[in-house]
Amino acid sequence: MKNTKVKIAGVELKNPVFTSSGTFGTSDEFADFIDINKLGGITTKGVAPVPWEGNPAPRVTEIPSGMMNCIGLENPGVDVFIRRDLPKLAKYDTVVMANVCGHSVDDYATVAERLEDIPTVKLLEINISCPNVSGGTSFGVDPKAAEEITKRVKRVASQPIIVKLSPNVTDITEIAKACESGGADGISLINSLTGMVIDVKKRKFVLSNKTGGMSGPAIRPLAVRMVYQAAHAVSIPVIGMGGIMTGEDAMQFIMAGATAVSVGMANFHDPGASVRIVKEIERFMDENGIDDINEVRGCV
Ligand code: FUM
Repeated sequence: MKNTKVKIAGVELKNPVFTSSGTFGTSDEFADFIDINKLGGITTKGVAPVPWEGNPAPRVTEIPSGMMNCIGLENPGVDVFIRRDLPKLAKYDTVVMANVCGHSVDDYATVAERLEDIPTVKLLEINISCPNVSGGTSFGVDPKAAEEITKRVKRVASQPIIVKLSPNVTDITEIAKACESGGADGISLINSLTGMVIDVKKRKFVLSNKTGGMSGPAIRPLAVRMVYQAAHAVSIPVIGMGGIMTGEDAMQFIMAGATAVSVGMANFHDPGASVRIVKEIERFMDENGIDDINEVRGCV
């Protein structure tokens, strides 16, 4: 029988497929479309110490082979998340990774402390890479700042911490190594790439924030390259993401060195995408004589 189980920082997933933060709600909103139990894990939308409204509309637009967003980390705040959203997730047999955001190091530490010892949350994803809020990427583009914030959150967190990296850097390996030396239990990448779209008829920016984060298949080759580089620079596990639409796309990330993958934009295009991708990975394994998904990690 083939094995699709993987381990991230000691946490076992039944298969390597997560959903990505910001594309899957803060709770079980996708339960009408898929059986959430079939996923290796889900990642909830970034949560801050207090509610954030996010940026004004328009804050999403299509681009060739993808989309751009400037949501601005709209979220209900950690208290509502704990009281209203997490209890609904407790009944699912899937790993819940809570994405943590903030404007300052203290914000991140506060959220990690509030989530301490909440059994539904098995992993924390520390989002130092949102391109749409002040302070969002500042920790993710400077190795020193990335190491400092990782150290600080690690001191207070009770769950393993996975630091989510920005692709908007010259050398992803520097940031990956900084997070590892700050004590990260894993890294996830890539977050979206900063882009801009102009409506030439209106002579205006399309998005309210002028810039937005590009995601979707358009960025996949860049994401695979960065996952490959990061996975070879650190010895902690890597969760790879960026434009995964099919099981074969997911296998590219695993062969590049990722232990698990995360499906993001595809959830908007096809709400059943994440579970379909789990099945497509299994089919790929059957068709290609792979007995254990862990065999092919980093095989290229
Ligand atoms: O704007 C946003 O909410 C995006 C968040 C992220 O990219 O992490």
